Amino acid sequence: MTTYSKPEFLFGHLRHFRRDQIGFLSQFADATEIVPLRFLNKQAYLLRDGEHIHEALVKQSGKLHKSPALKNSTKNSLGDGLLTSDDPLHKQQRKLAQPAFHARQIANYADTIVAFTDRYLARWGAETTLEIHEQMMLLTMEIIAKVLFDADVAGDAHAFGNAITTSINATMQRINSPLARFALTPKQRQAMRDGKILDDLIYGLIAERQASGNNNGDLLSMLLFARDEETGEGMDIKQLRDECMTLFIAGHETTANALSWAFYLLAQHPEEWRKVQAEADRVLGQTRPTFEHVKALTYTDWVVKESMRLFPPAYVTSRLIREDVQIGGKKMKAGEVLIMSQYLMHHHPAYWEQPEQFNPQRFATDRTIKEGYFPFGGGVRVCIGNHFAMMEAILILARIAQRVDVEWIPNQHITAHPAITLRPEPGIQLRLVARQLLPTLA
Ligand code: HEM
Repeated sequence: MTTYSKPEFLFGHLRHFRRDQIGFLSQFADATEIVPLRFLNKQAYLLRDGEHIHEALVKQSGKLHKSPALKNSTKNSLGDGLLTSDDPLHKQQRKLAQPAFHARQIANYADTIVAFTDRYLARWGAETTLEIHEQMMLLTMEIIAKVLFDADVAGDAHAFGNAITTSINATMQRINSPLARFALTPKQRQAMRDGKILDDLIYGLIAERQASGNNNGDLLSMLLFARDEETGEGMDIKQLRDECMTLFIAGHETTANALSWAFYLLAQHPEEWRKVQAEADRVLGQTRPTFEHVKALTYTDWVVKESMRLFPPAYVTSRLIREDVQIGGKKMKAGEVLIMSQYLMHHHPAYWEQPEQFNPQRFATDRTIKEGYFPFGGGVRVCIGNHFAMMEAILILARIAQRVDVEWIPNQHITAHPAITLRPEPGIQLRLVARQLLPTLA
């Protein structure tokens, strides 16, 4: 029988979890039964069965709330936006934001994605060595600001990126050490200073749009011009800020990680990279990728899915039980916590053959939560940007594959760092060399 780390008298499993989240969770790698845990005096359960996770995220989601740990620790950065709010606010706000993510709307974003990728390709030139995670962060940030807020942040992307990293580090400190919520540590102080840079950006965009009175049809206009059906009132400025900030941060950080891990894996598996390039050549020929091409870029789609299996950007998710539930025959009480880990499920030997192997082909058959795969969560709280993120990642990968060769730089020691998302530390160095192009290539 497997022996798990024992709870400490006062802290329960909290200190072990804080020290090494992935290591802590990985001790339950083979378990399929529900694992009881304790964080301080809080009873928690780790769900290890796809059916149980489906039950929690999809079937019984009405009895669950977002976890207070996430809410409290992101109060200053994300506030009460879509990611952290609960019903009835969440339901109302999701309805308002949803049209920005409808299939017809996201098709319009494809040209921006490719045009902005081309700016980076031009900057990289004929041959370069670069840190791909940083480049993907900047690129996806510029894209999200353009498509959701019609803003060009290219000039300030570095400063915003640094501010977001500071904010994430401070958030992690607050999650891992609840005392940090009340103490002004240097990290928290830095986060407050940097938080102002991001606040100024978002409030500035809102004020500009209010002053212009223009309805651009983008997300910012949708939220700004939305009126309550009963009272006719618009959203207050703080709520607008929280929604925009949430979408700005959640809308690029995760996709950038997914892309970075895809490059990490592809550069170390040149035979897979050649398949992505061959597909790009076959499907795109010499033309720029468009929304219409995405469906035909099947192998690239599998590569993105397989990269998110091995390195899920959102690696753990939790819920507070609001009303007693029964899952997998186990009764759980209101006030207790459910933990579900994409990282664990995506590596679970009961669900995946040779789980540690990079094998995009396995996604020739789609996988569901019940089958151990949920990079975008599920149910009513499923990621609002899932289709957009997939399209964006596929277009960026395909465009880069069409234009450059990617080479791995040996002797790098990269680890998956569990910040709010799974980041590659200390970054990924790659060599990029422009492919021999025909002069007519668009
Ligand atoms: C590869 C990229 C992405 C991954 C892996 C990802 C993952 C996730 C996951 C797992 C959740 C659910 C969290 C939970 O159940 O507690 C979520 C929610 C969310 N995501 Fe994403 N996401 C990605 C891209 C995006 C993009 C591009 C946007 C916006 C443009 C976005 C905005 C959001 C928002 C607003 C929520 C909260 C939805 C709600 O609760 O109604 N995400 N994401």
